[in-house]
Formats: sequence, structure tokens, C-alpha cells
Amino acid sequence: MTSARITVDRDFTIAPVPRRLFGSFVEHMGRCVYTGIFEPGHATADENGYRTDVLELTRELGVSIVRYPGGNFVSGYRWEDGVGPVEQRPRRLDGAWHTIETNAFGLHEFAGWAKKAGVEIMEAINLGTRGVDEARALVEYANHPGGTAWSDLRIANGAKEPFGIKVWNLGNELDGPWQIGHKTPDEYGRLAQEAGKAMKLVDPTIELVAVGSSGAHMPTFGQWEYTVLSHAYDEVDYVSLHAYYQEHDGDALSFLASANDMDYFIESVIATVDAVKAKRQTSKTINLSFDEWNVWYQRGLETEDQPHVVEQQPWREHPRLIEDTYNVTDAVVVGTYLNSLLRHGDRVTIANQAQLVNVIAPIRSEEGGPAWRQTIYWPFARMAELASGEILRVAAVGDKFESKEYGDAEFVDASSTYDADRGRLVLFLANRGLDEEADVTFALRGLAAGSVTRAEVLTVPEGGDRFTANTLESQDAVGMRRLENVHIDESGQVRLVLPALSWAFVELAVTES
Ligand code: AHR
Repeated sequence: MTSARITVDRDFTIAPVPRRLFGSFVEHMGRCVYTGIFEPGHATADENGYRTDVLELTRELGVSIVRYPGGNFVSGYRWEDGVGPVEQRPRRLDGAWHTIETNAFGLHEFAGWAKKAGVEIMEAINLGTRGVDEARALVEYANHPGGTAWSDLRIANGAKEPFGIKVWNLGNELDGPWQIGHKTPDEYGRLAQEAGKAMKLVDPTIELVAVGSSGAHMPTFGQWEYTVLSHAYDEVDYVSLHAYYQEHDGDALSFLASANDMDYFIESVIATVDAVKAKRQTSKTINLSFDEWNVWYQRGLETEDQPHVVEQQPWREHPRLIEDTYNVTDAVVVGTYLNSLLRHGDRVTIANQAQLVNVIAPIRSEEGGPAWRQTIYWPFARMAELASGEILRVAAVGDKFESKEYGDAEFVDASSTYDADRGRLVLFLANRGLDEEADVTFALRGLAAGSVTRAEVLTVPEGGDRFTANTLESQDAVGMRRLENVHIDESGQVRLVLPALSWAFVELAVTES
């Protein structure tokens, strides 16, 4: 058994919990839109063709904001193709994913879905093949009340009220050579500056996200952010980060320690952004939008849903693409990414798990069939539900393990929030010990723990192993169950034992002391 001692202090706060940290992503990719959120004719489809089973799971997941329509897709997309009478919309080749895009689903359909899902829209514009004029036209179409050509077209297309989209991505992954319209940092920085300026001239209330690096491993990482922001600092409000991780060659310990890399990535981007701030001698702070993050098995799979396999096939509508099936280990790792994001919630104020349905997603659905929760659904859903009020600084002292790729890591990884209005403190915990239980002591300062109101854990189910997953045949193999034996001792400390390889939360009723 390993041990960890965790302390929080009521006054040592990081920031209010940013609700937009619980974002997701819907891309026109694979079966995320078609047969994911949208499937006219499905037994659960409503009058608009939205799958209500997926809508319900989305609401239960607690998603706050959804990025749309891409991703790599957006860098070749013409948004005008997706508005107006459906029967007149063009069929196009989407080069990013070797797919035929029917455009049966576009901005209006997404806005209607977002309303039903109760989520905010985060709209990405195409700065790969397009530019300033199309960007400002889209803002006018979406947000201007009426009386101009673009806004009146929106009204004619059925939306009297503006969509009121606040957050906009200025393109996607334009640092990546795979991206349609890949650019140098100077080329992109100037384009983002001019597009951002023109968009804010149409609607000054919008918030803009500049493209950051597609990963901390990119050869241009650091230089990209510095150069882009040297051009566009005044126009933009956030810079983006994207990161995907997977277990390589059975090296579970490195995978379990991979949130170290997320911490490093976030802290390096903060340092770079603030270096530009210092150089410009400005008081304006740019925050971070971690608008793609997840586990993604990018290497080692030869299944029919891999992009390099799909590329060899004839052009098709919504082929299966990267429909990763997640296991217990993946869920624990996702829990550590959520902890990392929450601990950096003073600067990471938007984050989007990629993606929502089918494509590397917490929700899976089958065409004409059911929808179900993957293992990674649970840490997200519980944290989105319970993290409220202020993020607390977590001081943790405990046993560590070594990992080949990401150095030493604590077995027990934690984050915590305190909601004064509700008298609620929540501790989110991951035990990264593959075989070791963890003995956890949790001390509170400035707060007194009255009772344990709820405690749950996700771990290897009986008869299963760390690869157990929720599948079409076995949709609830892995889930949350009550965490037994969490108690408050005579000194007011909370004591508990975490099972090996687990993700858990403990909710406490607390008073200020
Ligand atoms: O989320 C899948 C893809 O990953 C996105 O389209 C792209 O932005 C990233 O490389």
C-alpha cells in the first residue's frame, strides 16, 4: 500500500471554477455529427433529427461549451454550404478526413442542438483556405440582429434571433504540416490579427482564441506562440493548446504519469504568453483555451476506423473514424487530466475534451442502435457536476513512482474545490498505482468537515482487469460505485483507502472554522 497526505486551506484559493472548463467538441468527422448527435429516422430522433438518447447523455455529462465544426475539417470548410434550404446544399469532398460532406447539418442545426443540450457554442472559422472577409461575414450572419445582407439571410433561413456566439476559434492547428492551409507563425499571426480585428469590428463583445501549438512536441512549440502573439496580442483573448496521449507498448506507468506533460505544456504556454505581455508592457492577460485534449490511440492500431486506412477506401459519407474504446486505465488517466486542468483554472479558462460522440469520445452510439457511456465519461461527468465555487490549492506529500517518459509522479493525484454557498468541499482523486492501494489522509485548514455526503469510485470491476471497457455488448461494465469506509477521525482529518488503479471523489459538508 502507498500513502498520501493531502492538505487544503480555505484561504489558499486558485480561482473560481471556470464553467467553460467542462467543454466538449463536435467536429464534422467520422460519426460525431452524422449518426452521433444527428440521425433523422433513429428511434429516439426528435422532429429535427437530433438523437434524444445522445442529447440526454450530453446533458448528464454536464458539458458547458461545445466547439464546432472542427478540427481539421474547418480548415477546408465553407460555412455558407451549411446554411439555407437543405436540399440545395452542396455535397463536397472533405480532404481532411477523406469523407463526403453532405452539409445536411450546418450552423442552424448545430445552434438548435446546442440549445437543446443546454451548451454554449464555440465556433471555429476557417483560416486555412479562407480569410478576413469570410470570417467577418460569419460573425455578421451569426450575431448581428438584422437589417444587413448577412443577418437578413440568417433570418430568411429561419433564425430571427441572432445566435449570439461569444467564443470564436481563429482557425485550427495551423502550425501542423497536415493542416489544409498550414502556415508559418508570422503568416498565421498576421492573418489572426486582421481576421480578429475585422470580426471584433462587427461584434466587439466576442472573445477570440488564437491557434497555439498542436502539442508540446511540435518543433515550433514556444516560438509559434511567441510570434503569433507578438502580432495578434491586442486582438485575441486566448491561445489554444491541444494534446493527446496514449499508452505505448504496454508502458502503463508512463501513460499514468502523462498528466505531468499536460502540466508542463500549460505552464510553458503561460510563461510564453506572459513573456509577450512583459515585452509589450501591457496589463492585458491572455488566458489559455485547452480546446482539444484526451486519450487517443494514434499509433499501433490497424483497425478499419484509422485515418490512414480510411484514406485508402473510396470516398464515403461519415465513415467510422477513430472510434477508440476506452478502458479503466484510460478513465483514471482522463481523471488526472481533469485534475491538471482544474489546478490551472486561473489561466486555463476554457477546455474541450475531444470529441463528444463516437470520435475519441465519452459517448458512443450505433446507427439505428443504442448510445452508451464509455469509461472516460465518468470522471468528466462527476467533476462537471461537483466542481463549484473556488478551486483550492492542494498540497500533497506522498509516495511516488518512476516513469520512463514523464519522470516521477505521485501515486495519488488530486484537486479540490470549495463552494462556500453550498458548504461543500470536494476532493477529486486518482490512484495511479497499478497494483497498490493508497492510504489517503486529507487535512482541512480553515474548514471543519461535518460529514461525508457522497463518495464514489471507478476502478477495475470484479472479474475484470485494467483493460475492461464499456462496449455495445456490455455497456455498463465499468462505472461509479460507492467508495466505502471514508471517515472523519477525532482530529477532523478525512481518512480513506483508494483501490489500486482508481478514480474517486469525496464530497464533504463543511463549515468555516
Ligand atoms: O480531434 C481530432 C483531430 O485532432 C482534430 O480534427 C484536429 O484538430 C486534431 O489534430
